Amino acid sequence: MIGFVGGTGPEGRGLALRFALAGEQVMIGSRDLGRAEEAAQSVAEFAPPGSIQGHLNDRTAAESDIVFIAVPFGGHQATLESLRDELDGKIVVDVVAPLAFSRGQVSAILVDEGSAAQQALAILPDSRVVAAFQNISAEDLLIPDRAIESDVIVCSDDDEAKTQVIALADTIKGARGVDGGKLENARYVEDFTALLLNINRIYKAHSTIKIVGI
Ligand SMILES: NC(=O)c1ccc[n+]([C@@H]2O[C@H](COP(=O)([O-])OP(=O)(O)OC[C@H]3O[C@@H](n4cnc5c(N)ncnc54)[C@H](OP(=O)(O)O)[C@@H]3O)[C@@H](O)[C@H]2O)c1
Repeated sequence: MIGFVGGTGPEGRGLALRFALAGEQVMIGSRDLGRAEEAAQSVAEFAPPGSIQGHLNDRTAAESDIVFIAVPFGGHQATLESLRDELDGKIVVDVVAPLAFSRGQVSAILVDEGSAAQQALAILPDSRVVAAFQNISAEDLLIPDRAIESDVIVCSDDDEAKTQVIALADTIKGARGVDGGKLENARYVEDFTALLLNINRIYKAHSTIKIVGI
């Protein structure tokens, strides 16, 4: 089971849909059961029957083998602190990019620990924290047959967990998982999202990244 804490937002729903299309069982989590069920229903029509459920965040974290964290950075710390027991020993995939939006400009927020992903590891020392998917547009993910022409840079100190998440990224049509090294490197990937969003405003497009030369 792949779970999404904060899965009712576009990023969680989009990734949940893509993994369901790849044959996985997924669970969309929320702070509110009704919102979770509604979000699951909103994408279920595009996915194999029975592959997407909606539940509360704590049940989602407890019942999933791989748990995505897809809340806004403002709720990141408190959400992880509240789910420490449920996330113990699990692969936790942090997709959070800490960003501030002001007067048409997007900027990266400075995080004391270095990045959202490093903050996650500081809060969850017994989880297998992986950072990935911060650069992929949720809007594109939500269009089921659209190829995501993008690399997904995957950073973690846990090599086995990183390999599993790279393989998961590869299941998304058009996407390629790329080994981004240690979790310390997640800060560059998170911050780069700010640049992509500023480029999006200039070109009225959904820009993304591809690493060449590997
Ligand atoms: N949108 C994108 O294109 C995109 C792309 C790459 C990465 N990301 C990252 O993915 C994460 C989710 O993005 P999103 O656009 O899906 O976000 P979002 O819609 O703003 O939030 C996702 C969900 O998080 C829950 N939430 C909101 N505030 C919260 C709080 N203070 N504490 C706990 N839960 C809270 C809400 O669910 P409930 O109310 O149902 O609990 C909400 O539906 C963000 O950190 C973002 O940086 C987004």
